[in-house]
Amino acid sequence: LDDPVPEISQPHTRHVLDQAAHILRAGQVVGMPTETVYGLASNALDSIAAQRIFKAKNRPQDNPLIVHVSSLKMLRSILKDNIIPDVYDDLIRTYWPGPLTLLFPRSSLIPNEITCGQATVAVRFPSHPITRALISACDRPLAAPSANSSGKPSPTLASHVMDDLAGKIPMVIDGGQCSFGIESTVVDGLRVPPAILRPGGITFEQIRQVKGMEKVQVYKKHFTDAAMEQAPTTPGMKYRHYSPEAEVVLVEYIKTEDSPVSNGSGPTGQYGRILKEIEKLKQEGKKRFGILRTSFTTTTPSAAAAAAVITHPNGTTHLQDDREDENVIEFPLGQGSKPEDVARELFRGLRYLDDQKVDCIFVEGISEDDEGLAVMNRVRKAASRTISLESTEFL
Ligand code: TXA
Ligand code: MG
Repeated sequence: LDDPVPEISQPHTRHVLDQAAHILRAGQVVGMPTETVYGLASNALDSIAAQRIFKAKNRPQDNPLIVHVSSLKMLRSILKDNIIPDVYDDLIRTYWPGPLTLLFPRSSLIPNEITCGQATVAVRFPSHPITRALISACDRPLAAPSANSSGKPSPTLASHVMDDLAGKIPMVIDGGQCSFGIESTVVDGLRVPPAILRPGGITFEQIRQVKGMEKVQVYKKHFTDAAMEQAPTTPGMKYRHYSPEAEVVLVEYIKTEDSPVSNGSGPTGQYGRILKEIEKLKQEGKKRFGILRTSFTTTTPSAAAAAAVITHPNGTTHLQDDREDENVIEFPLGQGSKPEDVARELFRGLRYLDDQKVDCIFVEGISEDDEGLAVMNRVRKAASRTISLESTEFL
């Protein structure tokens, strides 16, 4: 963790990094890939540069930024008394570099524009080789929120950043699709017991297993906090988030003791319920619909041979069936049993369906285990309405 900068030998990549570092050192902003989502970076020690981030994103002035470092030495340089609190030792050893953000007492080196007046600074040590090489080339910590316009789904492709911010920022580095696809987990280990303020790429189950984190609580699942609700410091609590233009409707299972087991893709399951809802909305004059699907079952090759195969924008395929309707566009997120796949595709799917100009996007919910907790956290913030189906188990 003290000398972790990956060797970037490819000349073109090297050139792009030098250009980006030059722009950042001059106090400008750059869109950059990370393993979670694309970030909009600026020099974290420069208050004017930080203001450019808020302006480009149209971000509320009271929503603090995460600072990204590429070594523990750099981390210490921005902390109060240059000390890393002991409570984080095992978390750092286990999950850094990676999609985990920790709250620290800050030093006065970090401008107020970044922390928005908080006594703490949120810091992340990313694992993406481009992000780390860029921080190291700048030789400064980089402040970076997600690189979307405020309120929109976070970008997981460079083209998403361009869709939101073209003309407002001088450069985006294209690093392909982000591997996690959902933001970092934000942990406050300074409070007792420790708290997950935002679920993300490192799961609650993983954090709970780390020494000193056995009692970790998740906001909304284990506790709510009136003061936190009011303060803008807790990730995404105060503002509308992750919302495309279309109305988003979550269709999820509620676990009950004695209701019948529904089939995920059968007529009483999520998909069947969505098709019924679409019929109703059509009668109300709505025309185009999108479905983010998680209840797909994989098709067998022999069945596939007999029917037309639909290839989806994210490369997955499924069989064309009788219900195919050009005004109902399906985007498979992956199966609910593999929440990490759903996490990777969620924001891309929301953006894709919005581009298709649908009136309404239905999302098939998944269980809140592992990455499912972060997925459902984002979906709930995006959704304006929820349809609950009873089931004795998640399918
Ligand atoms: O994965 C990520 O974390 C991405 C990539 C680019 O690193 N960044 C990201 O930043 O998601 P952003 O700004 O979209 O979300 C950061 C969240 C904000 O909602 C903010 O409220 C919270 O972190 N935050 C920042 N500083 C904080 C602090 N001192 N105390 C509590 N929450 C803080
Ligand atoms: Mg964000």
